[in-house]
Amino acid sequence: MTAAAAWDVVVIGAGAAGMMCAIEAGRRGRRVLVVDHAPTPGEKIRISGGGRCNFTNLNAGPANFISANRHFCRSALSRYTQHDVIDMVRRHGIAFHEKTLGQLFCDGSATQIIHMLLDEMQAHHVALALSTRVERVERSGDGFRLALTSGMAECASLVVACGGRSIPKIGATGFGYDLARQFGLPVTETRPALVPLIFDAELLERLKPLAGVAVDAAVTTGGVRFDEAMLFTHRGLSGPAILQASSYWREGETVEIAMLPGLDVYAALREARTSHARQSVQTWLGHHLPRRLAQSIAEDEHTRRFNLADLPDTRLRSIANAVNAWRVVPVGTEGYRTAEVTLGGVDTRALDQKTMAARAVPGLYFIGEVVDVTGWLGGYNFQWAWSSGWVAGQAA
Ligand code: FDA
Repeated sequence: MTAAAAWDVVVIGAGAAGMMCAIEAGRRGRRVLVVDHAPTPGEKIRISGGGRCNFTNLNAGPANFISANRHFCRSALSRYTQHDVIDMVRRHGIAFHEKTLGQLFCDGSATQIIHMLLDEMQAHHVALALSTRVERVERSGDGFRLALTSGMAECASLVVACGGRSIPKIGATGFGYDLARQFGLPVTETRPALVPLIFDAELLERLKPLAGVAVDAAVTTGGVRFDEAMLFTHRGLSGPAILQASSYWREGETVEIAMLPGLDVYAALREARTSHARQSVQTWLGHHLPRRLAQSIAEDEHTRRFNLADLPDTRLRSIANAVNAWRVVPVGTEGYRTAEVTLGGVDTRALDQKTMAARAVPGLYFIGEVVDVTGWLGGYNFQWAWSSGWVAGQAA
């Protein structure tokens, strides 16, 4: 039997969290190997933010994360903050800008972030084994023994940074959850999040002409409201407001949508009935909403041939509700195929919030998306990857 290569730290997963952890452990003088089954590192970084990587958010804080334990992320987020990330990005001469709501994007390309991480890994002598599968992991004394497709490896600390299940096409697997279970750690229910919502065939038939229409909306579900853009698609609804809401939506629940959230539509319609009595409902709606949407609402409300003056208060109320209290029950989501993240994951009760170490298994760490900490849309998920990776890198 050939001797196993010996490392201080093996990190499984060359994503944002894994690479950050490897850099920090390497900085401390640890001999670090990062293993990934994909042929290239940081694939999610590459495709993130429309190719420009929304690498953090100026306003990142615990309130922007979903977890069974809302407080778990606080420690890591406060030890390695968005400002630390910004410093690192600046040090590497990467130009960036705030797009909206504190979201920071590269001016150029997301690959700049990947190169930044690879340069730092190289500077700290981190080894990277790509196209390498982990076939087996077992306890070996105080450390771990891994069967890799390239041979055996042993390490004192094992960091699991395999990400979640979203976008299997680019290498996402449930391997991190399997490892957690193998070592006796609980895993909370996982589900696709930051994902478009889909409608049943009947509703889709009615809404088909609206595919491609976008509005600024207020979307409420599960007691949480998001005010951002919303997009009608061929399958249902998408856009930032819907993606955000999807993380809180559960099967069978209603999503309430206001398409003119800044306007009291009922009061405005009543006023217009006096001031523009001969205007049609569709024309009035068309002054406030995209034309196709205005037409669709007017048709649904059976008011196309009516002028405002013809309509009693009850009809105006009904139109106002169709605009600002539209209640829909999606039949599901587009699933992991398009979900930006996975909600749920390794139960935080089993982890030390200061180091991300498994309490019951010395030397074992879980970081990034594989953990039950899920950020909102807007750079929060990368911030969690950087923060959790950084703290584990100080300990592993
Ligand atoms: P990540 O998934 O990045 O890395 C895990 C690594 O483990 C991968 O390289 C994978 O190949 C590897 N792996 C998996 N199974 C393995 C196995 N069995 N053996 C070996 N290796 C294995 N977030 C944000 O903050 N801003 C943004 O702009 C975006 N944009 C965005 C767009 C799209 C299309 C998606 C899908 C997602 C985003 N996100 C985002 C979310 C963000 O990409 C995500 O939360 C982080 O990449 C998670 O980082 P991790 O390092 O935890 O996992």
